[in-house]
Order: sequence, then structure tokens, then C-alpha cells
Amino acid sequence: MRSIDEQGYHFEEWLTPEQIAKDVQQVAHQISADYKDKEPLFVIVLNGAFVFAADLIRALDPSIRCEETFIRVSSYYGMQTTGQLQFIVPLQQVVENRDVVIIEDIVDTGLTIHQLKAHLRGLGATSVKTATMLFKPEKLEYEDARPDYVGHEISEEFVIGYGLDFDGFRRNLDAIYKVKE
Ligand code: IMP
Repeated sequence: MRSIDEQGYHFEEWLTPEQIAKDVQQVAHQISADYKDKEPLFVIVLNGAFVFAADLIRALDPSIRCEETFIRVSSYYGMQTTGQLQFIVPLQQVVENRDVVIIEDIVDTGLTIHQLKAHLRGLGATSVKTATMLFKPEKLEYEDARPDYVGHEISEEFVIGYGLDFDGFRRNLDAIYKVKE
């Protein structure tokens, strides 16, 4: 099993690239079915979701006519949430009357999605759903942030890789690694 050390913590490989690919296919299949007759706008949450998003949009059925745009928010420093969401890169696309799907790397407390959904609805989106590679259901604090499409559920452990970082590092890992006590 592969492992990585980062800032004094030991991480072990948890989801292999092959397992991740299966999860991505399953999410893409669901979205392709649900948005068959729509033109979804994917709002990709930077920085973490860019890896998952790149795989996900290419796994969609080719008949899906979609657009992508980016937003950058920040609520995390190190391994603890700050509880305060900042819009660092604001939306650059009109979302009014659009069926929006937010793409996230991980939903933890749900604060990010809770605030983003309110923001997008306030801008007049027709519908707002969420696709995430990982979901920590035990930590969810905002029920309206429960994701619609989930690659894999995880309990409370901290993970890195496949877009997920530790203070900005390790996003490039091709697998998802779990911290070991
Ligand atoms: P939430 O707003 O509490 O749901 O947190 C969402 C954000 O927290 C994600 O977009 C990640 O940037 C970060 N995050 C939460 N858990 C982890 C983790 O286990 N590893 C890396 N980042 C995480």
C-alpha cells in the first residue's frame, strides 16, 4: 500500500485511481440521466474540485450539452474549518434561469455548499444541485447542503490527493490518502 508523509502526519492510500474512476463513472451516469433534456451549468469550486471536475465532465454522456465556470471560496486552513466563507474568485457567468450543478471535491460541514447554494439561488438559478467526490455525512451541519451526487462517503478522517490538499500541497496525488493516527 502506498503512503505519504506531510507536515508530520502519515497518510495511507485509501481510494486507488481505479476505484476513483468507478465512482466518477457512477456519478457521471446519474447526472447524464437527470440532465438529459437540460443544458446544465457546472460551477466548479476551486481549487480542490478541478481534478474531479475534469474527469467528471469528460465521463458525461456526449449528448449532454453543458457549460463550465469557476468560483473560488476559502474556509479551510490546515485541518480545521474557520467557519467563515470568503469569495476569492467570484462567478463570471450568468446563472439566471440556469440549471446549476456545483462540483466540489468534498462536503464536510456543508458550510461551503450551504452558502454557495444561497448565493446561486439569489442570482436567479432555476435549480442548484451538488456533485461531490467525497461526502462526510457524520459531519454535516447544514441539511440543505446534503449533496445530490456522491462519489464516495467517508467518516470524519482527513484526506489528501485527487484535488484535496493539506495547506495547498498534495492535490496532485492520483489516489486519495487517509491520515493515520
Ligand atoms: P465544508 O464547507 O465544511 O463542507 O468544507 C468543504 C471544504 O473543506 C472542501 O472544499 C475542502 O477544501 C475542505 N475539506 C474538508 N475536509 C477535507 C479533507 O479531509 N481534506 C482536505 N480538505 C478538506
